Amino acid sequence: MFFCKYFQKHKLPVVDQNYITDVLSNIYFNYQPYLNGDDVIFLQEINAYAAFKYDVVTDLLRLNEVAGVSNVHLALNNIYFSPTEAVHQQNKSTALKVLPFLSKREQYTTTPYLQSLLKAFFVNLPVQQPVDFMQYLVAPAFFISTLRDFSLLHLFPELDVINGTASTQNALQIIDRYFDDGDVLLKDITEKLAANSALLGTTKEMLQEISSHHPVNSSDIPKFLRSMIFASSESTIAFACTFASVYFNNYSFKIEEGSEDFLHLCNETARIYTPVPFIYRTIKTDTTYRGKLLKKGDLLVLFIGVANLDTKSFEHPTQIKFKRTNKHLAFGQGSYACIGRFAAFGKAFGLTKFLNEHQSDWQFTSTKLTHRIKNSTLKPQLQIVRKNG
Ligand code: HEM
Repeated sequence: MFFCKYFQKHKLPVVDQNYITDVLSNIYFNYQPYLNGDDVIFLQEINAYAAFKYDVVTDLLRLNEVAGVSNVHLALNNIYFSPTEAVHQQNKSTALKVLPFLSKREQYTTTPYLQSLLKAFFVNLPVQQPVDFMQYLVAPAFFISTLRDFSLLHLFPELDVINGTASTQNALQIIDRYFDDGDVLLKDITEKLAANSALLGTTKEMLQEISSHHPVNSSDIPKFLRSMIFASSESTIAFACTFASVYFNNYSFKIEEGSEDFLHLCNETARIYTPVPFIYRTIKTDTTYRGKLLKKGDLLVLFIGVANLDTKSFEHPTQIKFKRTNKHLAFGQGSYACIGRFAAFGKAFGLTKFLNEHQSDWQFTSTKLTHRIKNSTLKPQLQIVRKNG
């Protein structure tokens, strides 16, 4: 959805998001020839340039003045992040100040609240019947916990399954619809705010900070909130599910939760199964980069997931090794890099902790981990069976 608008905004010929995702997914899963090709490749099908190699992608991520604006910024309607780098940096530290849960470096915290949510959705699973792990357990619990992190849960009493009277079944259906079509969430936020529901706590504080040095149009606020909710929940949900599978199928009991090795495993999982496999840039200034003329307005797709598997930079790239020298690109790099890495690791920790504590009550149906790409996120296909009633 964001990408569709993105293409329209930049008057790019392809406006069908499914088509774009299909093309890019196909390339992503069959990347080897591209890794051996030119440094920057023109993708005829979607009229965009693309880079795959680790050193090239890293280079381009740092060339903000040339490669310019990240799609996350466009999706966020430039409210949160001003176009100028200086203000942008200031906003980033504002975000970390106002949303302290984002900056818990290497210190995994899981809240009793997240554990209660996981329990509420777990006990609701049918017994002895395989169900999609992500959809029925992790997505609803993480989504509600994200709303709470951003002080937005009071707008959604129908999702408050812990402190309110909301039913898990109904909450599950609502959240499913949100992930299916982000415009439904946008509509709900718009209506809820119009019905005089004030913003509270951290989100209110963050918007006040932002509006003090950057104009915030009130009609953009719902779009901003939707973007923050999806930026923070969708990739984290996919990551935590993949992490749980890697952890329980290979490392449970061998790695202490919250230890340094746990951090390494988080990073290696994010590298090998990069949750956001490709990100976008729009060229700001005509420039010749490694022999290709990139013109202002051209679209550039950076395959960070492929770069993370580049054999020139990562020996045996699909194997988990804890002491890698190169930094992976799963959270981007440079001034546009993700602010949520530690929050995502903390949530993954919360999930493994919950599953550890209920070890005898569940099992995955397969040890083979497969993925598909939906909404530009790499999603694990993983089923869970609840064993006991
Ligand atoms: C495993 C989970 C996550 C992954 C893989 C991920 C990935 C990424 C990537 C690759 C970028 C860079 C985009 C670009 O350069 O175009 C990014 C940016 C961003 N992420 Fe995350 N993210 C995750 C979790 C989160 C969480 C929990 C939050 C919570 C707020 C979040 C908020 C953001 C924001 C606001 C940006 C834009 C940052 C900026 O441009 O300054 N992400 N994320």
